[in-house]
Amino acid sequence: MNEFYNKDIISIKDYNKEQFEKIFEYTDKIMNLDPAARREICKGKTLSYLFYEPSTRTRMSFESAMASIGGNSLGISDISSSSTQKGESLADTVKIMSIYSDILVLRHPLDGSSRFASEISSKPVINAGSGTEEHPTQAIQDLFTIKKEKKKIDGLKIGIIGDLKYGRTVYSLLSALANYDVEVHLISPESLRIRSDSIYEIRKKLSFTESTDIEEYIEDLDVVYVTRIQKERFPDEEEYLKVKGSYVIGLDLLKKMKDDSIILHPLPRLDEISTDIDNTKNAKYFQQAEYGKHTRAALLGLILNENGF
Ligand code: CP
Repeated sequence: MNEFYNKDIISIKDYNKEQFEKIFEYTDKIMNLDPAARREICKGKTLSYLFYEPSTRTRMSFESAMASIGGNSLGISDISSSSTQKGESLADTVKIMSIYSDILVLRHPLDGSSRFASEISSKPVINAGSGTEEHPTQAIQDLFTIKKEKKKIDGLKIGIIGDLKYGRTVYSLLSALANYDVEVHLISPESLRIRSDSIYEIRKKLSFTESTDIEEYIEDLDVVYVTRIQKERFPDEEEYLKVKGSYVIGLDLLKKMKDDSIILHPLPRLDEISTDIDNTKNAKYFQQAEYGKHTRAALLGLILNENGF
């Protein structure tokens, strides 16, 4: 039996390098299948989604992925149009959605929300972003992008830049990278440094430097992973205004980077990557979003098929 069958995806911490490699292998397989064969993978299966926070990529890539493997999707993208507005609890909403579908994708502002949902749901739950804690399928997409674009992950020098305090993609990515032999440099404003309590375990497996100066390591980096400053998570707008626009990757900075470095971003971006960068060979963030559809299709195919596909 395929080890991912009927399992939740709650935390990236539940996965190891061997499992990542297996997911990448299936992603490659799915990318190489002809459309008709691809549509057989989840024929007749239904995905439901429940998004308590806004999303463009995650929700639509799940929908697009499910359609590409022959399944269908239904769900709630605007929570104000659901019975949550009448006071229905998350628990009851999850219970109902798991009756109507084969797998449930949840985004919620609270840490622990997906774990909680998985204990209630009769169907597998995929965490599509929980509070400031985790975004595991984003990390799988990020690793896959690095592997595809750099042909390896081990041995790379990776800079992670921006909002390291509130950016949940950062915590999932660091946990995932802890399975590899990489050199990591964290660059953020002082007030947005990584939360030390959240990386207690990661620190045992992954060594990294912390800096406020984007120029300190920029010449050495193979991967420049940029994140948005998460305005919506600041308790105080004044604090946000102090760090807004702290780092901007523009053509001047690009000139200092390695010729074959790649620039990634989970998106959405605001002003932290200049649009001048978009047409350079180093910009891989839109490609990263495309890989997200394929990695999610592979995950859905593995979770919903006992013997893989
Ligand atoms: N990367 C990501 O999670 O994007 P969305 O918020 O648009 O889903």
